[in-house]
Amino acid sequence: MQQGDAGLQQLLESIARVAAGDYSNDIMALTTDSTPEPIRSIAEAMGLMMVKVEAREFRLEQLVDELRALNERIRQNTVQTVAAMAQALEARDSYTRGHAERVAALAAEIAVEMGFDQERIELVRIAGVLHDIGKIGCSDRIFQDHGPKNPPDVVREILSHPAVGAEILSRLEFLDLVTAIIVAHHERVDGTGYPNKLPFEQIPLEARIIAVADGFDAMTTDRPYQKARTWEVALGILHSGSGAQWDGDCVTAFERVLARKQAAQPDHLVK
Ligand SMILES: [Fe+2]
Repeated sequence: MQQGDAGLQQLLESIARVAAGDYSNDIMALTTDSTPEPIRSIAEAMGLMMVKVEAREFRLEQLVDELRALNERIRQNTVQTVAAMAQALEARDSYTRGHAERVAALAAEIAVEMGFDQERIELVRIAGVLHDIGKIGCSDRIFQDHGPKNPPDVVREILSHPAVGAEILSRLEFLDLVTAIIVAHHERVDGTGYPNKLPFEQIPLEARIIAVADGFDAMTTDRPYQKARTWEVALGILHSGSGAQWDGDCVTAFERVLARKQAAQPDHLVK
């Protein structure tokens, strides 16, 4: 009888552990011939249940992993679809061909230089690819050469593109961080940028990085209103606009990125 009491106590403790989520094999010790009935039969039944529960948990974990992978694939496909829209936009304007990809690559390099983690670097890269997506909502007139001064309606359209881009992307909930960057990519650190004249501290750092990469790429490629400048000249302009148009820390980080690129591609000095 005492042996039965001890076995019962052991069984109850094992059941309590299982109930708490601890699927140790202690209960199997009660399935030997020396354990009196009905403790032994209960322990055997519990052991079988545990095996089934564990198998189900394993399958559930697999399903969660599969769902996570599927979710990531959907996310990437959506980003690629929106990026394809951005590329379609570039087809309307021969001067900006490749601009989004170059800005994305440069901005990501600045983010690396500034010590961002992998997730934040990817955020900067995606925002770089999509930064001008709002131009989809603009007429072809914004891509035409209007001489030294754009007509007011063209200026209005150009000024609207960050907000239009944010509006387009706002329907994609998982891109909300990207959207917050895109709407701010033409803000200036002296608080006179557009569309919201945000003060420095309210401009996301990612947007300040993209502003530098965007400015540099615009200056170093042929545009209707200017010939491409050399890397050196463009960097000088970024420096002179530090603290006003651009964030000095981002420009400094970019200068280090550029120095490495220049060492690898010295021909760019004379572009
Ligand atoms: Fe822009």
